[in-house]
Amino acid sequence: MDSFAFMIHPLDESDVTKKYSAARFVPKFIIAQMLKHAPPFKASDITGVTSKYNKIDGSFVTCPLTAKQMISLPESFVINKIIQAGKVAEQLGAKILGLGAYTSVVGDAGLSVAKNLKIPVTTGNSYTVATAIEGAKLASCKMGHNLDEVKVAIIGATGSIGSVCAEILARDVKTLILVGKDEVKLHRLANRILYDTGLVAKISLDLRQSLKHADVVICATNSVEILINPEDLKPGAVVCDVSRPRNVSRRVAELRNDVLVIEGGLVEVPGDVNFNLNFGFPPGMAYACMAETMILALEKKYESYTLGRDVSIKQVMEIDKLAKKHGFRVAGFRSFEKAVTEVEINSIRDNAMRKVLVTETA
Ligand SMILES: NC(=O)c1ccc[n+]([C@@H]2O[C@H](COP(=O)([O-])OP(=O)(O)OC[C@H]3O[C@@H](n4cnc5c(N)ncnc54)[C@H](OP(=O)(O)O)[C@@H]3O)[C@@H](O)[C@H]2O)c1
Repeated sequence: MDSFAFMIHPLDESDVTKKYSAARFVPKFIIAQMLKHAPPFKASDITGVTSKYNKIDGSFVTCPLTAKQMISLPESFVINKIIQAGKVAEQLGAKILGLGAYTSVVGDAGLSVAKNLKIPVTTGNSYTVATAIEGAKLASCKMGHNLDEVKVAIIGATGSIGSVCAEILARDVKTLILVGKDEVKLHRLANRILYDTGLVAKISLDLRQSLKHADVVICATNSVEILINPEDLKPGAVVCDVSRPRNVSRRVAELRNDVLVIEGGLVEVPGDVNFNLNFGFPPGMAYACMAETMILALEKKYESYTLGRDVSIKQVMEIDKLAKKHGFRVAGFRSFEKAVTEVEINSIRDNAMRKVLVTETA
């Protein structure tokens, strides 16, 4: 049978205490030390992924390091641990390996990992881009925004996911704000967008200022910090947070009933799927990066598909087409682990309109 593996890791120490309740009494720094020395292991079997054309099985393999450890420990140590986790996937008989969360962000975004394994590797970023854009467009439409008239900001615009999102959206929007940390990289991206699409994108190093003007925000940074707070956002704003760990404060959900925050890159997987692992979603729902690995296995396309930081528009379109062929669908909206209903979206839109009216008449 065609088979795949997907690498996961605890985003922070609380993921460990959720799984092993006895660890609740262990101080965080000790959990971190234990993770650092723990070997990679198989977390669960994945069964039932079935399309019209193929049926596959797979496994989750854990690389025991938190997101913070992945970016703060020496890169060679982290990459080596990811490679060791990849070897566990090989031993399990996987024919392709997907890299989840920070295992696809550290170092050269999978290139060194792929060089040191016998099986192909993919970061899943192509399908993540496709689904983030589809979700953000749909959410914007439901909030009454016409992309041709509103301001769209990409946070983490110079990154692997952010830059392709920007290049694709540049074809649909009039005002695009590219937000990043490196002015040279931002200029380079803006020039490429101008050359490819004719759109003059604005660039910004000032995240808070950019958010004040943005109607639609796609956030895809490698920061482990909260970057978007309730006081930063415009009434009626739609925020698609692709980053894991998330960059949007939970306080936005608590304090801003006029703003729609959705998690980017969530999909429904075809078949009677059992992940045998609870990552907080309803049954059959997965991250797009996981789905990309499944799509490639279903298609028997055993090649290192998305690797390194350059994702092409062609790849995004191709994987989106393959996803549809095999029956993957962008899942309904979710926000802070909960489904967002049509009624809630209508209420958010009404609250936003009321807030704008009050401000205008004040
Ligand atoms: N939901 C999903 O299915 C899914 C799938 C894959 C990845 N992800 C997540 O998506 C995120 C992005 O992944 P990636 O592969 O695109 O990472 P990446 O290539 O490392 O890019 C991240 C970008 O964020 C920028 N950045 C960092 N801090 C920032 C800040 N404070 N303000 C503005 N920009 C900032 C970085 O700028 P510099 O380079 O200048 O530092 C970089 O350009 C990660 O959190 C990852 O875990 C989610």
